[in-house]
This record gives sequence, C-alpha cells and structure tokens, in this order.
Amino acid sequence: MAIKHFLQFNDLTTDELNHIFVRTTWIKGQFKSYKQYWPLQDRTLVMIFEKASTRTRLSFEAGMHQLGGAAIYLNTRDSQLGRGEPVEDAAQVISRMSDIVMIRTFEQEIIERFAQNSRVPVINGLTNEYHPCQILADIYTFIEHKGSIKGKTVAWIGDSNNVCNTWLQAAEVLDFNVHVSTPPGYEVEMERANLYGHDHFEEFADPMDAAKGADLVTTDVWTSMGFEAENEERKRDFADWQVDDDMMRAANKDALFMHCLPAHRGEEVAAEVIDGKQSVVWEEAENRLHVQKALMEYLLLGRVEK
Ligand code: CP
Ligand code: NVA
Repeated sequence: MAIKHFLQFNDLTTDELNHIFVRTTWIKGQFKSYKQYWPLQDRTLVMIFEKASTRTRLSFEAGMHQLGGAAIYLNTRDSQLGRGEPVEDAAQVISRMSDIVMIRTFEQEIIERFAQNSRVPVINGLTNEYHPCQILADIYTFIEHKGSIKGKTVAWIGDSNNVCNTWLQAAEVLDFNVHVSTPPGYEVEMERANLYGHDHFEEFADPMDAAKGADLVTTDVWTSMGFEAENEERKRDFADWQVDDDMMRAANKDALFMHCLPAHRGEEVAAEVIDGKQSVVWEEAENRLHVQKALMEYLLLGRVEK
C-alpha cells in the first residue's frame, strides 16, 4: 500500500473522511464502554513538537496507548532537531524506527520535506498554514450535534490563520460554506489557504453580517504561536472581532460555538459565549482523541470495517 500522509485537510477525499467519521463513532463507543481495542499493538508513534501543545500531545499520546501502541515525544529543545540536522536526515532516521510520525512545526514546507523523506505516514499536528486534525475533530463534533455538514454555514470570526485556512479547505472537500470576517489587513490569502476560487467562502467586512445564517460560529486566538511580536498591535486591530452574545444572536437560533483552544476570554470570545449553552468546546477538545485514533487506524491499516 502506498504511504498516505495527512499534511493538509484535502489530502483525504470526501469518501475517506466519511469513513474516518464512521470509524470515530465506533472507536469512541469502544472507549466509552471500556472495551479494549488494540489494532496498533507493537506500533510506535513519534511526536515531534517545535511549538507548545496540551491537547495535541495528550490526544495523540493517549490515543496511541489506547490503540495498543507506544508514543514517543521529541522536541526541538532536547533533541538534535533544534541543532541544525537537516529535516531530510531526521526523516530518514525517525521513520526507520517508528511506524507513524506526527509533527507540529512552523512552515508547512518543513513537514512536506519530512514527508518526502519518510518511510511511514506523517500527520500534521499544526503548522503556520494548517491544522487539519483540529478541523477533523470540529467537523466530527458538528456531525454529532447536527448531522451532515454538507450545505451548512460556518462563520469564522477573527484571524485568517492556520485554523481558518483549514476550514476553507474542508469546505471544498465536504461541500459547505464558510463566512469569513477578519479586520482589514488580515484577510484570507488564497494561496496560503491553497484555494483556487471563492466557491465555498464569502468575506464580510462586518463580523455581525458573517454570523447571519450560520449553523456554527467559530474563532481562534488573535495571535497565533510564532507571531507573538505582533501581539499588542493585534489586540488593537481585532478589538471589534470578539464573539459575544450579540453575535451569537445574529447566527441561527441553535448555532453551535467552537474554539480550538486555548482561548482568551475577553479577547476573541466573551466568557458568556464560551461558557454558555451553545458552546461545545469541551466535546470538541475530547473529539481530538477519537478522530485521531480513527485517522491513525486508517493511515496504518487502511479501511477497517467492524
Ligand atoms: N487546539 C490545539 O491544538 O491545542 P494544543 O495547542 O494544546 O495542542
Ligand atoms: N492558531 C493557533 C492554534 C493553536 C492550537 C496557533 O497556531 O497558535
């Protein structure tokens, strides 16, 4: 079987994604009823982190253990990765000692180069450009609450960052719409989002207009990791892009609220929203575990039908 990577959301087809969502439900069911499911016994996941993480590390590490395998954590501070070893060399060595690799790094180009030199599947655990595992979990969470996302509308309020880019890719693969509202100067870069047209998204100057008709309202920090030097300027520029109760009222009546976390209450989201009844952020975070288990199962074993 050819090696399959998950470096961008659209590395998987609609059909493959739907299979992963079905498997997620089954795998989550096993976990919730304390049933052992060890299809990846004797398999090893290597996780490489060049940026901080709570959820991604925990969900991949716990997930691999729960599937019967082992997970090894490497970071740039105490491995040779931070001391200038070429990424191609690291990929050759790491992929000879493991069965699957997850990487959180800076430029997308780094993970692409790693994958080109890897003997095993590589998963993007966040780059400056994309965060595909997050959107896998978000869409699964949406499906659990509302059914298929096809034809639905997601409102993205705030920075056109890695998470936003990934929503835009997902909208093309799974055929839904994204309303995007960013402050002037922070608009979506079509090339960065790897899009070729406006088929599935619309931009709005006013975030209240973006929220109208949305089935899901979502946002993320104003300053992503690696952009900390812009923090003060961004706080000023994004001040009118906070998701608050008024904005949730502009959306559809039972719209969900999601945030990939970590969140800053009082900045991109008001406490009344993230801690309110439309918020599903804790389920969203938990679903990282379940979807990534289904993803690893798929990348390593292909289509498992049970
Ligand atoms: N949402 C997310 O990826 O969280 P971490 O940065 O904690 O991994
Ligand atoms: N956009 C954020 C997501 C963190 C999970 C970042 O890149 O820092």
